[in-house]
Amino acid sequence: MTPPNKPIALTRFLIEAQRAGHITADLRLLIEVVARACKAISHAVNRGALGGVLGDAGTGNIQGEAQKKLDVLSNEILIEANEWGGHLAGFASEEEDDFVEVPNAYPKGRYLLLFDPLDGSSNIDVNISVGTIFSVLQCADGIDKLEARHFLQPGSKQVAAGYTTYGPSTMLVLTVGHGTHAFTLDRELGSFLLTQRDMKIPEDTKEFAINMSNQRHWFPPMQKYVAELLEGKTGPRGKDFNMRWVASMVADVHRILTRGGIFIYPRDRREPDKPGKLRLMYEANPMSFIVEQAGGAATDGMRRIMDIQPDKLHQRVAVFLGSKNEVEVATRYHREAGGP
Ligand code: AHG
Ligand code: MN
Ligand code: MN
Repeated sequence: MTPPNKPIALTRFLIEAQRAGHITADLRLLIEVVARACKAISHAVNRGALGGVLGDAGTGNIQGEAQKKLDVLSNEILIEANEWGGHLAGFASEEEDDFVEVPNAYPKGRYLLLFDPLDGSSNIDVNISVGTIFSVLQCADGIDKLEARHFLQPGSKQVAAGYTTYGPSTMLVLTVGHGTHAFTLDRELGSFLLTQRDMKIPEDTKEFAINMSNQRHWFPPMQKYVAELLEGKTGPRGKDFNMRWVASMVADVHRILTRGGIFIYPRDRREPDKPGKLRLMYEANPMSFIVEQAGGAATDGMRRIMDIQPDKLHQRVAVFLGSKNEVEVATRYHREAGGP
Protein backbone atom coordinates (compact mmCIF):
# COMPACT_ATOMS: atom_id res chain seq x y z
CA MET A 1 0.00 0.00 0.00
CA THR A 2 1.12 3.56 -0.68
CA PRO A 3 1.62 5.42 2.59
CA PRO A 4 -0.87 8.26 3.13
CA ASN A 5 0.21 11.64 1.73
CA LYS A 6 2.57 10.06 -0.81
CA PRO A 7 1.23 11.23 -4.15
CA ILE A 8 0.52 8.54 -6.71
CA ALA A 9 1.95 8.70 -10.20
CA LEU A 10 -0.13 9.20 -13.35
CA THR A 11 0.77 5.63 -14.40
CA ARG A 12 -0.81 4.17 -11.28
CA PHE A 13 -3.81 6.51 -11.49
CA LEU A 14 -4.45 5.30 -15.05
CA ILE A 15 -4.04 1.63 -14.18
CA GLU A 16 -6.57 2.07 -11.39
CA ALA A 17 -8.92 3.88 -13.79
CA GLN A 18 -8.59 0.93 -16.17
CA ARG A 19 -9.32 -1.57 -13.37
CA ALA A 20 -12.38 0.46 -12.43
CA GLY A 21 -13.60 0.14 -16.03
CA HIS A 22 -13.30 3.87 -16.75
CA ILE A 23 -10.77 3.50 -19.58
CA THR A 24 -9.50 0.77 -21.91
CA ALA A 25 -5.87 -0.39 -21.95
CA ASP A 26 -5.43 1.40 -25.30
CA LEU A 27 -6.75 4.67 -23.94
CA ARG A 28 -4.43 4.33 -20.94
CA LEU A 29 -1.47 3.93 -23.28
CA LEU A 30 -2.62 6.88 -25.38
CA ILE A 31 -2.84 9.18 -22.34
CA GLU A 32 0.59 8.00 -21.12
CA VAL A 33 2.09 8.82 -24.51
CA VAL A 34 0.44 12.26 -24.63
CA ALA A 35 1.78 12.96 -21.13
CA ARG A 36 5.26 11.89 -22.24
CA ALA A 37 5.07 14.20 -25.26
CA CYS A 38 3.96 17.04 -22.96
CA LYS A 39 7.05 16.44 -20.81
CA ALA A 40 9.18 16.92 -23.92
CA ILE A 41 7.29 20.13 -24.78
CA SER A 42 7.69 21.31 -21.19
CA HIS A 43 11.42 20.77 -21.48
CA ALA A 44 11.60 22.78 -24.70
CA VAL A 45 9.46 25.61 -23.26
CA ASN A 46 11.65 25.67 -20.16
CA ARG A 47 14.88 25.91 -22.11
CA GLY A 48 13.50 28.98 -23.88
CA ALA A 49 16.21 31.13 -25.43
CA LEU A 50 18.87 28.56 -24.41
CA GLY A 51 17.19 26.01 -26.66
CA GLY A 52 16.85 28.45 -29.56
CA VAL A 53 13.09 27.84 -29.63
CA LEU A 54 11.77 31.37 -29.16
CA GLY A 55 10.48 33.59 -31.96
CA ASP A 56 8.51 33.17 -35.17
CA ALA A 57 8.71 30.11 -37.38
CA GLY A 58 8.17 32.32 -40.43
CA THR A 59 5.15 30.24 -41.46
CA GLY A 60 1.38 30.53 -40.98
CA ASN A 61 -1.34 28.01 -40.19
CA ILE A 62 -4.54 27.43 -42.15
CA GLN A 63 -6.36 29.83 -39.85
CA GLY A 64 -4.15 32.68 -40.98
CA GLU A 65 -2.18 32.88 -37.74
CA ALA A 66 1.60 33.33 -37.71
CA GLN A 67 3.25 30.26 -36.22
CA LYS A 68 5.86 30.45 -33.50
CA LYS A 69 8.79 28.02 -33.54
CA LEU A 70 7.31 26.37 -30.45
CA ASP A 71 3.90 25.93 -32.13
CA VAL A 72 5.58 23.93 -34.88
CA LEU A 73 7.91 22.01 -32.54
CA SER A 74 5.13 21.06 -30.11
CA ASN A 75 2.98 19.84 -33.00
CA GLU A 76 5.86 17.66 -34.25
CA ILE A 77 6.55 16.27 -30.77
CA LEU A 78 2.90 15.25 -30.29
CA ILE A 79 2.59 13.59 -33.70
CA GLU A 80 5.94 11.77 -33.52
CA ALA A 81 5.23 10.46 -30.03
CA ASN A 82 1.78 9.13 -30.93
CA GLU A 83 1.93 7.88 -34.50
CA TRP A 84 3.66 4.54 -33.92
CA GLY A 85 1.92 3.25 -30.77
CA GLY A 86 -0.98 1.50 -32.51
CA HIS A 87 -3.68 3.15 -30.43
CA LEU A 88 -4.69 5.88 -32.90
CA ALA A 89 -6.50 6.05 -36.22
CA GLY A 90 -5.55 9.68 -36.76
CA PHE A 91 -4.89 13.18 -35.45
CA ALA A 92 -6.30 16.63 -35.93
CA SER A 93 -4.27 19.62 -34.87
CA GLU A 94 -4.78 23.37 -34.79
CA GLU A 95 -1.47 23.65 -36.65
CA GLU A 96 -2.29 21.21 -39.49
CA ASP A 97 -4.35 22.15 -42.56
CA ASP A 98 -6.24 18.87 -42.48
CA PHE A 99 -6.46 15.80 -40.28
CA VAL A 100 -3.38 13.52 -40.24
CA GLU A 101 -3.62 9.78 -40.80
CA VAL A 102 -1.38 7.35 -38.95
CA PRO A 103 1.26 6.32 -41.54
CA ASN A 104 0.66 2.90 -43.13
CA ALA A 105 3.91 1.61 -41.65
CA TYR A 106 2.21 1.51 -38.23
CA PRO A 107 -0.83 -0.36 -36.94
CA LYS A 108 -4.04 1.66 -36.65
CA GLY A 109 -6.04 1.93 -33.45
CA ARG A 110 -9.53 2.97 -32.46
CA TYR A 111 -8.98 6.50 -31.13
CA LEU A 112 -8.71 9.97 -32.62
CA LEU A 113 -6.48 12.54 -30.96
CA LEU A 114 -7.18 16.26 -31.40
CA PHE A 115 -4.95 18.98 -30.00
CA ASP A 116 -3.85 22.56 -29.68
CA PRO A 117 -0.12 21.80 -29.40
CA LEU A 118 0.76 25.14 -27.89
CA ASP A 119 -1.92 27.36 -26.47
CA GLY A 120 -1.22 30.99 -25.66
CA SER A 121 1.56 31.37 -28.19
CA SER A 122 1.55 35.18 -27.86
CA ASN A 123 3.01 34.55 -24.38
CA ILE A 124 5.95 32.37 -25.46
CA ASP A 125 8.48 35.11 -26.04
CA VAL A 126 7.58 36.93 -22.81
CA ASN A 127 8.01 33.97 -20.44
CA ILE A 128 4.35 33.74 -19.43
CA SER A 129 2.50 30.42 -19.01
CA VAL A 130 1.53 28.51 -22.13
CA GLY A 131 0.07 25.02 -22.47
CA THR A 132 -1.12 22.08 -24.54
CA ILE A 133 -4.80 21.08 -24.85
CA PHE A 134 -5.99 17.65 -26.06
CA SER A 135 -9.18 15.75 -26.70
CA VAL A 136 -9.75 12.05 -27.43
CA LEU A 137 -12.65 10.67 -29.48
CA GLN A 138 -13.45 7.15 -30.50
CA CYS A 139 -13.25 6.32 -34.19
CA ALA A 140 -16.20 4.47 -35.70
CA ASP A 141 -15.49 0.76 -36.33
CA GLY A 142 -14.82 -0.78 -39.73
CA ILE A 143 -13.51 2.32 -41.50
CA ASP A 144 -11.50 1.73 -44.69
CA LYS A 145 -10.49 5.30 -45.20
CA LEU A 146 -10.31 7.95 -42.51
CA GLU A 147 -12.16 11.16 -43.41
CA ALA A 148 -12.69 14.52 -41.72
CA ARG A 149 -16.31 13.57 -40.96
CA HIS A 150 -15.09 10.85 -38.56
CA PHE A 151 -13.71 13.61 -36.34
CA LEU A 152 -16.88 15.72 -36.46
CA GLN A 153 -18.44 14.44 -33.25
CA PRO A 154 -19.96 16.61 -30.50
CA GLY A 155 -17.85 17.16 -27.38
CA SER A 156 -20.19 14.92 -25.39
CA LYS A 157 -18.58 11.97 -27.23
CA GLN A 158 -15.09 12.70 -25.84
CA VAL A 159 -13.62 9.80 -23.88
CA ALA A 160 -10.78 11.86 -22.41
CA ALA A 161 -9.58 15.45 -22.40
CA GLY A 162 -6.77 17.30 -20.72
CA TYR A 163 -4.34 20.14 -20.77
CA THR A 164 -0.84 20.81 -19.55
CA THR A 165 0.25 24.19 -18.25
CA TYR A 166 3.89 25.10 -18.61
CA GLY A 167 3.99 27.62 -15.81
CA PRO A 168 5.98 27.93 -12.56
CA SER A 169 5.24 24.19 -12.31
CA THR A 170 4.25 21.97 -15.20
CA MET A 171 0.83 20.50 -14.46
CA LEU A 172 -1.40 18.04 -16.28
CA VAL A 173 -5.14 18.29 -15.73
CA LEU A 174 -7.12 15.31 -16.94
CA THR A 175 -10.62 13.91 -17.17
CA VAL A 176 -11.79 10.54 -18.47
CA GLY A 177 -15.37 11.34 -17.47
CA HIS A 178 -15.01 10.58 -13.76
CA GLY A 179 -14.01 13.91 -12.27
CA THR A 180 -11.15 16.26 -13.10
CA HIS A 181 -7.75 15.58 -11.57
CA ALA A 182 -4.49 17.53 -11.47
CA PHE A 183 -0.95 16.15 -11.63
CA THR A 184 2.27 18.07 -11.07
CA LEU A 185 5.45 17.17 -12.92
CA ASP A 186 8.19 16.06 -10.57
CA ARG A 187 11.22 16.95 -12.66
CA GLU A 188 13.59 14.82 -10.60
CA LEU A 189 11.47 11.69 -10.98
CA GLY A 190 10.33 12.62 -14.48
CA SER A 191 6.75 11.68 -13.64
CA PHE A 192 3.43 13.41 -13.16
CA LEU A 193 2.19 12.98 -9.57
CA LEU A 194 -1.44 13.34 -8.54
CA THR A 195 -1.66 16.54 -6.50
CA GLN A 196 -5.40 17.22 -6.62
CA ARG A 197 -8.12 14.64 -7.00
CA ASP A 198 -11.62 15.79 -7.96
CA MET A 199 -11.13 19.48 -8.57
CA LYS A 200 -14.30 21.47 -7.86
CA ILE A 201 -15.07 24.87 -9.33
CA PRO A 202 -16.98 27.07 -6.86
CA GLU A 203 -20.50 27.69 -8.24
CA ASP A 204 -20.33 31.44 -7.58
CA THR A 205 -17.55 33.86 -8.34
CA LYS A 206 -16.42 37.48 -8.22
CA GLU A 207 -13.79 37.16 -10.94
CA PHE A 208 -14.11 37.38 -14.72
CA ALA A 209 -11.66 36.88 -17.58
CA ILE A 210 -12.16 38.63 -20.90
CA ASN A 211 -10.07 40.70 -23.28
CA MET A 212 -11.59 44.11 -22.46
CA SER A 213 -9.81 45.79 -25.37
CA ASN A 214 -12.45 44.27 -27.66
CA GLN A 215 -15.33 45.88 -25.78
CA ARG A 216 -16.29 48.26 -28.58
CA HIS A 217 -16.80 45.28 -30.92
CA TRP A 218 -19.16 43.35 -28.62
CA PHE A 219 -22.86 42.78 -29.26
CA PRO A 220 -25.49 44.27 -26.86
CA PRO A 221 -25.92 41.32 -24.43
CA MET A 222 -22.15 41.22 -23.79
CA GLN A 223 -22.06 44.99 -23.32
CA LYS A 224 -24.86 44.79 -20.77
CA TYR A 225 -23.41 41.79 -18.90
CA VAL A 226 -19.91 43.26 -18.46
CA ALA A 227 -21.19 46.79 -17.74
CA GLU A 228 -23.14 45.34 -14.82
CA LEU A 229 -20.08 43.46 -13.51
CA LEU A 230 -18.12 46.72 -13.61
CA GLU A 231 -20.81 48.56 -11.63
CA GLY A 232 -19.79 46.45 -8.64
CA LYS A 233 -21.45 46.51 -5.25
CA THR A 234 -23.81 49.38 -5.98
CA GLY A 235 -24.91 47.92 -9.35
CA PRO A 236 -27.51 45.24 -10.13
CA ARG A 237 -25.10 42.38 -9.28
CA GLY A 238 -24.52 43.71 -5.77
CA LYS A 239 -20.85 42.72 -5.54
CA ASP A 240 -17.45 43.93 -6.72
CA PHE A 241 -15.82 41.85 -9.45
CA ASN A 242 -12.10 41.45 -10.11
CA MET A 243 -10.66 40.88 -13.60
CA ARG A 244 -7.80 38.68 -14.86
CA TRP A 245 -6.74 37.93 -18.45
CA VAL A 246 -3.57 35.92 -19.08
CA ALA A 247 -4.31 35.43 -22.82
CA SER A 248 -3.39 31.74 -22.47
CA MET A 249 -6.65 29.85 -22.20
CA VAL A 250 -4.89 27.07 -20.26
CA ALA A 251 -3.70 29.49 -17.60
CA ASP A 252 -7.07 31.26 -17.33
CA VAL A 253 -8.94 27.94 -17.12
CA HIS A 254 -6.46 26.61 -14.57
CA ARG A 255 -7.09 29.61 -12.34
CA ILE A 256 -10.85 29.04 -12.67
CA LEU A 257 -10.49 25.35 -11.75
CA THR A 258 -8.51 26.40 -8.72
CA ARG A 259 -10.52 29.32 -7.35
CA GLY A 260 -13.54 29.86 -9.63
CA GLY A 261 -14.32 32.54 -12.18
CA ILE A 262 -15.82 32.99 -15.62
CA PHE A 263 -13.81 32.92 -18.86
CA ILE A 264 -15.37 34.57 -21.90
CA TYR A 265 -14.28 34.85 -25.52
CA PRO A 266 -17.43 36.12 -27.25
CA ARG A 267 -18.31 36.42 -30.89
CA ASP A 268 -17.94 40.07 -31.91
CA ARG A 269 -18.37 42.55 -34.75
CA ARG A 270 -14.78 42.37 -35.99
CA GLU A 271 -15.60 39.30 -38.06
CA PRO A 272 -19.36 38.76 -37.64
CA ASP A 273 -19.23 35.62 -39.80
CA LYS A 274 -16.86 33.96 -37.34
CA PRO A 275 -18.51 32.66 -34.19
CA GLY A 276 -15.65 33.73 -31.90
CA LYS A 277 -11.90 33.16 -31.92
CA LEU A 278 -11.43 29.88 -30.10
CA ARG A 279 -11.57 26.53 -31.81
CA LEU A 280 -14.38 24.13 -30.94
CA MET A 281 -12.49 20.87 -31.45
CA TYR A 282 -9.07 21.77 -30.01
CA GLU A 283 -9.90 24.27 -27.27
CA ALA A 284 -13.60 24.64 -26.40
CA ASN A 285 -14.65 20.98 -26.30
CA PRO A 286 -11.78 19.63 -24.18
CA MET A 287 -11.95 22.59 -21.79
CA SER A 288 -15.74 22.21 -21.52
CA PHE A 289 -15.38 18.51 -20.63
CA ILE A 290 -12.75 19.33 -17.98
CA VAL A 291 -14.83 22.19 -16.54
CA GLU A 292 -18.11 20.24 -16.47
CA GLN A 293 -16.38 17.32 -14.76
CA ALA A 294 -15.30 19.79 -12.06
CA GLY A 295 -18.88 20.98 -11.54
CA GLY A 296 -18.66 24.03 -13.81
CA ALA A 297 -20.54 24.92 -17.00
CA ALA A 298 -19.61 25.81 -20.58
CA THR A 299 -21.82 27.42 -23.24
CA ASP A 300 -21.47 29.42 -26.44
CA GLY A 301 -23.84 32.00 -24.96
CA MET A 302 -26.88 30.03 -26.08
CA ARG A 303 -26.18 26.28 -25.95
CA ARG A 304 -24.05 23.82 -24.04
CA ILE A 305 -20.77 23.67 -25.98
CA MET A 306 -20.52 19.87 -25.78
CA ASP A 307 -23.90 19.52 -27.56
CA ILE A 308 -22.74 21.38 -30.67
CA GLN A 309 -22.52 19.20 -33.76
CA PRO A 310 -19.33 20.39 -35.51
CA ASP A 311 -19.41 20.84 -39.27
CA LYS A 312 -15.74 21.50 -39.84
CA LEU A 313 -12.48 20.62 -38.12
CA HIS A 314 -11.23 24.15 -37.53
CA GLN A 315 -14.67 25.48 -36.54
CA ARG A 316 -14.68 28.42 -34.13
CA VAL A 317 -17.07 29.06 -31.30
CA ALA A 318 -17.89 31.66 -28.66
CA VAL A 319 -16.91 30.43 -25.18
CA PHE A 320 -18.41 31.15 -21.75
CA LEU A 321 -17.07 28.75 -19.14
CA GLY A 322 -16.38 28.40 -15.44
CA SER A 323 -18.41 28.87 -12.27
CA LYS A 324 -21.82 27.41 -12.95
CA ASN A 325 -24.07 30.20 -11.65
CA GLU A 326 -22.07 32.93 -13.39
CA VAL A 327 -22.09 31.09 -16.74
CA GLU A 328 -25.87 30.77 -16.31
CA VAL A 329 -26.24 34.54 -15.81
CA ALA A 330 -24.15 35.40 -18.90
CA THR A 331 -25.97 32.76 -20.97
CA ARG A 332 -29.38 34.04 -19.82
CA TYR A 333 -28.53 37.57 -21.05
CA HIS A 334 -27.75 36.16 -24.50
CA ARG A 335 -30.82 33.92 -24.61
CA GLU A 336 -33.09 36.78 -23.55
CA ALA A 337 -31.63 38.92 -26.33
CA GLY A 338 -32.27 36.08 -28.80
CA GLY A 339 -28.53 35.62 -29.52
CA PRO A 340 -25.30 37.56 -29.45
P1 AHG B 1 -3.39 29.95 -29.54
O1 AHG B 1 -2.12 30.48 -28.98
O2 AHG B 1 -3.48 28.45 -29.49
O3 AHG B 1 -3.72 30.51 -30.90
O4 AHG B 1 -4.59 30.37 -28.58
C1 AHG B 1 -4.65 31.66 -28.04
C2 AHG B 1 -6.04 31.87 -27.55
C3 AHG B 1 -6.25 31.53 -26.08
O5 AHG B 1 -5.25 30.82 -25.47
C4 AHG B 1 -6.43 32.87 -25.42
O6 AHG B 1 -7.42 32.79 -24.45
C5 AHG B 1 -6.82 33.79 -26.53
O7 AHG B 1 -6.35 33.23 -27.71
C6 AHG B 1 -6.23 35.16 -26.36
O8 AHG B 1 -6.73 35.96 -27.35
P2 AHG B 1 -6.44 37.54 -27.41
O9 AHG B 1 -5.00 37.69 -27.80
O10 AHG B 1 -7.39 38.01 -28.49
O11 AHG B 1 -6.75 38.12 -26.07
MN1 MN C 1 -5.07 27.93 -28.22
MN1 MN D 1 -2.14 27.00 -30.35
